[in-house]
Amino acid sequence: ITVTAALPYANGPVHLGHLAGAYLPADFYVRWRRLRGDDVIFICGSDEHGVPITIRARKEGISPQELVDRNHALIRDTFDRFGISFDHYGRTSDPLHHETASEMFSDLLQKGAFTEEVTEQFYDEEAGQFLADRYIIGTCPVCANPNAYGDQCEKCGSTLSPQELKEPRSALSGNPPVLRPTKNWYLPLDRLQNEFLNQYINSRDNWKTNVLGQCRSWLNEGLRPRAMTRDLDWGVKVPVAGEDGKVLYVWFEAPIGYISITRRLKPANWQEYWTGDAELIHFIGKDNIVFHCIIFPAMLHLYDHGFVVPKQVPANEFLNLEGEKISTSRNCAVSLHEYMDELPDREDE
Ligand code: 2FM
Ligand code: ZN
Repeated sequence: ITVTAALPYANGPVHLGHLAGAYLPADFYVRWRRLRGDDVIFICGSDEHGVPITIRARKEGISPQELVDRNHALIRDTFDRFGISFDHYGRTSDPLHHETASEMFSDLLQKGAFTEEVTEQFYDEEAGQFLADRYIIGTCPVCANPNAYGDQCEKCGSTLSPQELKEPRSALSGNPPVLRPTKNWYLPLDRLQNEFLNQYINSRDNWKTNVLGQCRSWLNEGLRPRAMTRDLDWGVKVPVAGEDGKVLYVWFEAPIGYISITRRLKPANWQEYWTGDAELIHFIGKDNIVFHCIIFPAMLHLYDHGFVVPKQVPANEFLNLEGEKISTSRNCAVSLHEYMDELPDREDE
């Protein structure tokens, strides 16, 4: 039995909401299965790629690697202090993870599982790189906030696309970006919906209603192809010759982290926990549902190496603090290491 708890982003500390929503329930469950004598492994680790990490590192004037090294150690030690009983706490910057994710991408590519699409993306000519949505700043078309991001206006909360911003500028150089064509690889979720996902989701009659509700609403809207690679230089490099400056989409490779961390834990027999009659159970927060219930199962299905698909995905709603949404950026959170610092006597009990 493989039980996983969502790999926390290594761009900041974990807080009470994370603990209540994913790590504590997973830990209870694993301890219960151990008591029953089941052969269970409990897998977690730091999710160290993605755009927010590059942005945070830039803000702090350090490299992304320095940032994730620091936060990985902090998060790992915090879970340790709370007694969360992971069998292994790994990280996605581990070379074994890069190898595992690259292999899976190459295999899928060879099978023709992806479609290729050329789209126009904003590019910063001075910095010489494509700009992720968060790296584009401009005036919000809804509320005229002059500092809205290419994916969202934090003032009025509107979800945006970079092309909607007025007077867009690059967060790197401050210059107006230009549009440039770029090729990326897409997972054809529209096709997979009919081929596999409708049937997979509709046969999960023992999943929680909040989880099934979200899955069904995605399926009812009709899935669309989603890019599995990004023009970015921080992450797992796209394993295709001549495609420098592209990495695997963080939501493609992060769930593969569950596999690579199992390989670290059980180098000799890790496959036993992923194939045959293995049971795969993911504890997550509600914002992770689509990735664990739709995209990752679709990847495992296409990969077709006898891997099991998730059997149960207990996702929880968010924990509120004094009636407010917990938010690290708005400073409305209780981080776990600070909580523990305030309670030194409890720690020793
Ligand atoms: O929401 C998050 O914190 C993500 N880093 C969870 C990733 S879970 C898995 F896919 F690795
Ligand atoms: Zn706005």
